[in-house]
Amino acid sequence: MAAIRAFTSSHSSLTLLASSSIFTNFRSISHLGITSISITKPLLSCSSRNIRMAHAVAKATLGLTHPAQIDHPKITFAAKETDLLQWKGDILAVGVTEKDMTKGENSKFQNPILEKLDSKLGGLLSEVATEEDFTGKAGQSTVIRVADLGPKRVSLIGLGKATGPTTTGFHVFGESVASVAKASQANNVAIALASSEGLTSELKLATAATIAKGTLLGTYEDNRFKSEAKKPFLKSVDFFGLGTGPELAKKFKYTEDVCSGVILGKELVNAPANVLTPEVLAAEAEKIAAAYSDVFTAKILDTEQCKELKMGSYLGVAAASTNPPKFIHLCYKPPSGSVKTKLALVGKGLTFDSGGYNIKTGPGCSIELMKFDMGGSAAVLGAAKALGQIKPSGVEVHFIVAACENMISGTGMRPGDILTASNGKTIEVNNTDAEGRLTLADALVYACNQGVDKIVDLATLTGACVVALGPSIAGIFTPSDELSKEVVAASEVAGEKLWRLPMEESYWESMKSGVADMVNTGGRQGGSITAALFLKQFVDEKVQWLHIDMAGPVWNDKKKAATGFAIPTLVEWVLSNSSS
Ligand code: BES
Ligand code: MN
Ligand code: ZN
Repeated sequence: MAAIRAFTSSHSSLTLLASSSIFTNFRSISHLGITSISITKPLLSCSSRNIRMAHAVAKATLGLTHPAQIDHPKITFAAKETDLLQWKGDILAVGVTEKDMTKGENSKFQNPILEKLDSKLGGLLSEVATEEDFTGKAGQSTVIRVADLGPKRVSLIGLGKATGPTTTGFHVFGESVASVAKASQANNVAIALASSEGLTSELKLATAATIAKGTLLGTYEDNRFKSEAKKPFLKSVDFFGLGTGPELAKKFKYTEDVCSGVILGKELVNAPANVLTPEVLAAEAEKIAAAYSDVFTAKILDTEQCKELKMGSYLGVAAASTNPPKFIHLCYKPPSGSVKTKLALVGKGLTFDSGGYNIKTGPGCSIELMKFDMGGSAAVLGAAKALGQIKPSGVEVHFIVAACENMISGTGMRPGDILTASNGKTIEVNNTDAEGRLTLADALVYACNQGVDKIVDLATLTGACVVALGPSIAGIFTPSDELSKEVVAASEVAGEKLWRLPMEESYWESMKSGVADMVNTGGRQGGSITAALFLKQFVDEKVQWLHIDMAGPVWNDKKKAATGFAIPTLVEWVLSNSSS
């Protein structure tokens, strides 16, 4: 697909595109049915198939790394009403609770679906379950190759104790379906729950959607930086007993839209800092605006424009890097109808955080992972992509990222320097590693100037939050009980974990400076709280504001990959503020 740039953009954004050394075109690739991030070859790249000329001298990506273009097949989700045992395909996956696995006195399954399946298989199911000690515990799974049945394989997947529709249980079930499918290279899978009868039709739809999300994201693998990509497999998933018709189709479409945003978010975070510079992040934002130009406009501000806006706090952080900062602003307006609520999503966008002069050293500082320090911005852009497809009415949404890199050089800010933010407040930088809040300060002032009613900011802000809540729970901070309720409700629907922490005003004491209005760090104690109190200095009191510290959940240590955290929650929250 040729590049379309049919959105209004500032002069600087056009300059960026003309001189951008790393991004060229964006292509629509069939990536689970979405237009994917495509970090492509440099403008001046020559290959036998692909010769392009640049208007400006192009510099090569450090390390000569260029992510591969990988086509991921679209997975088709459908609802079936036919007899489960008549279904023909690779795997029939049945979700079973521990209760479903209980047997009666005749040592037959009490659950009618399992009993029917077992008798059709001549007792094989029961035999294998006993042999493998499969009791339906969460995380357990078993696969049997069968003959003379519609499906080639039957898989039982443990759900543990019965769970609610949007809880992690069904998401994990979906992921298990994906891994079972992967292990046997299955193209098509049927999904059923041993006990779905008792569910209301609304719960059935929500359950199907959660499972679909788990399957879709579980199938996805980011192989862009591997020299050999594995073959994609799963193509279709048929659901039995969890509803049918347009309502379910709508749910599946929503799931796909959200997942395409989550995948974009993951790819942005997984991309290393030598590939994903602030310029590249800005180009990615522009691609979203171009792909959904009916609802988005994009504005990218360069250093000069940020100077004009007096963003001294943000520019202080950016000062050491040879990769110039880019201030990203996408604006979503509904395709029709009036706007009732104006929202802003603000994301920390540090494409790399070395710590600056307070360099990250010593074991556990995770400097090698600090490419993920733009996880907040990835959440914001992932949500933008999803919302560009969903197109909610009645809301205007501003997506704001002050993107830059925290590096060390002769031009960098020093510990002790005093910065002046765009609201006129002065900050003594007593630690250059507390840079995220400095960039967010100017981004929050900018967001307030857009005349929004509510702001949610997201940031991999403090190691202290990981210490407090561990790797899977994000901390939230807000003076507004109302906004807290809204965002928590959205996270529960989305199946993500948030926990509210207090904004203890008395802790501001440690943030006082002898020479400026404030310092940027207040010591180790309550580090996430003092960070949130710092951000509050840059938010208009009339605006409802909530801060999400996602330093823990941004990254999955076991999988060594990004999680796409917060995107489903943000989409839900925006929809809860919309009128459709
Ligand atoms: N990006 C880090 C926070 C972080 C640390 C995220 C570890 C994920 C894992 C942030 O910029 C930072 O360096 N924060 C400092 C603040 C301190 C200097 C007050 C921290 O948490 O150590
Ligand atoms: Mn830092
Ligand atoms: Zn940081």
